Amino acid sequence: MGEIKEDIKEILLSKRKIKKKVKKLGKQISDEYRGKNPVFVSILKGSVIFLSDLLRELKIECSVDFMAVSSYNEKTESSGVVKLIMDLRESIEGRHVLLVEDIVDTGLTAGYLRDVIRMRNPESVEICTLLSKPAARELHIECRYTGFEIPDEYVVGYGLDYSEKYRNIPYIATLKSEVYRR
Ligand code: IMP
Repeated sequence: MGEIKEDIKEILLSKRKIKKKVKKLGKQISDEYRGKNPVFVSILKGSVIFLSDLLRELKIECSVDFMAVSSYNEKTESSGVVKLIMDLRESIEGRHVLLVEDIVDTGLTAGYLRDVIRMRNPESVEICTLLSKPAARELHIECRYTGFEIPDEYVVGYGLDYSEKYRNIPYIATLKSEVYRR
């Protein structure tokens, strides 16, 4: 096995571009949530790198919690079925919740999680996603904060995986087609 960069077809978003955008989102969120002590709910595993960079750009008091849902199971297409496999540790009743997603593709995952959170009586729920693929949307989802809109192509890096690999690439990229045939 060689280096992972040999599997990369094209870099869609560079390290520099992502850093600049995360800084901008951090500033916007800090301005809009000042004094509200929001809780950032990060969806494992894809959003953790985005979350960790975003948190360090925030100038406000906040807390963090995690949820996990069943994923694509080594495929690049959604099964359309979302299942909660790990729940929050803390109560979110009366809290301002920001759901932190790596990517909103069909919108089914974000929609499902937003509904699960809403049932627990938070003060508010908004979605913050690094990436969005508007052309793939099956469910209309309002994302208050979106880093980048990208074409309907499978991407990896900056937390996003293919078959649990490539999460550690510091940029967002597409993979060579032979990778999917292995
Ligand atoms: P959705 O439910 O179709 O919106 O998909 C959401 C989840 O699918 C994301 O949180 C990712 O884990 C995964 N996903 C969707 N598109 C991609 C992609 O292009 N690369 C890697 N993971 C993806």
